[in-house]
Amino acid sequence: MFKTHSRRPKYSEHMEGPIILVAGARPNFMKIAPLYKVFKQRNINTILLHSGQHYDANMSQIFFDDLGIPAPDIHLEVGSGSHAVQTAAVMVAFEEVCFEHKPSMVVVVGDVNSTIACAIVAAKLHIPCAHVEAGLRSGDMKMPEEVNRVLTDRICSILLTPSPDGDENLLAEGVPAENIHMVGNVMIDSLLSNLEKAKASGIVERLGLVEGEYATLTMHRPGNVDDEVVFTSLVETLEIVSSSIQLVFPMHPRTRARAESFGLMGKLESIALITEPLGYHEFQGLIASSKLVLTDSGGLQEETTALGIPCLTMRPNTERPITITEGTNIIVGSDQAKILSGVEDILSGQGKAGRIPHLWDGKAAERMADVIIGHIA
Ligand code: UD1
Repeated sequence: MFKTHSRRPKYSEHMEGPIILVAGARPNFMKIAPLYKVFKQRNINTILLHSGQHYDANMSQIFFDDLGIPAPDIHLEVGSGSHAVQTAAVMVAFEEVCFEHKPSMVVVVGDVNSTIACAIVAAKLHIPCAHVEAGLRSGDMKMPEEVNRVLTDRICSILLTPSPDGDENLLAEGVPAENIHMVGNVMIDSLLSNLEKAKASGIVERLGLVEGEYATLTMHRPGNVDDEVVFTSLVETLEIVSSSIQLVFPMHPRTRARAESFGLMGKLESIALITEPLGYHEFQGLIASSKLVLTDSGGLQEETTALGIPCLTMRPNTERPITITEGTNIIVGSDQAKILSGVEDILSGQGKAGRIPHLWDGKAAERMADVIIGHIA
């Protein structure tokens, strides 16, 4: 039997309420930090909410410390689970928060399960929702993030894009032009304002590395690590790469779990220097001094472009095409020949130089705040 919720507020009751800024998983924290700081500087009544999707200290707390953001005002503590369990848990808990705090707006970032969960809750309560990093499309609906991106953009009314391809994708999907605002890449705000601390983090020395003489490797996509055949074949390719350059691999917890269950940990430890997930300063310090980066991450494609470090993306596609057309990124998928020739080109000095895309200038959060405040006013 379905019941209607007697406490469901009307949107008119929300107009004076706070803005709720939502974060849940590691790639969210460097996107909310600059925005939180600008909101505070402008005296905007802001609630910082953490869904708890990521909860290990080195997947969450260390980013709050490094990025100088305070503990969240509200922590939903949902933890891990299947996609349905995790998304539903965030929705149930976040709806209660909206009933209690009557926000004037919800701001969600990126493409993780917490993003879509909070966007759905806001949309159904008629609370305006802004999406930071809107419009990105890989075209690959087998990626959970692509499902989250497409659906979040469909139900948010303020779409803040990092690059022109985002605007083009949204217009092609029929989004009204007045809902789309190209404000630039907020993750680069965090990168630029923390670069000095990153370079002073001492990570290169701590790991006994030599600047410019190692490759940073990250891998955690279900498409690469959940399938034993694909993961094993990538490890074989990486073994060949490791004969040309030292590999450093800060390992995501899901990757470690899969490597252990497929019996690949021993091989990985023999071909790469494996570390726990690193904090923000140490990780940016590590990539800034890398010869190259091999990754299946989204954000890392952008950070390497901003830093001018060659990047080989081990995925069949990217939702961040500007890192290819303008930046240092090349798509190599899981294809051994492409990975090896990409590495060889970089080691022989033929890596892509790239340039910094328009509006990746460290001021995206200011522009986002202008749009958001303008909307509320
Ligand atoms: C999520 C995002 C992905 C992002 C990635 C960055 C979705 C759909 N995916 O993937 O886009 O690139 O975060 O990390 O939201 N775990 C821990 N400790 C933690 C968090 C997770 O051990 O603090 C382990 C758990 O076993 C968990 C698994 O990692 O089941 C996966 O975590 P989950 O948040 O479901 O997805 P990610 O792979 O991290």
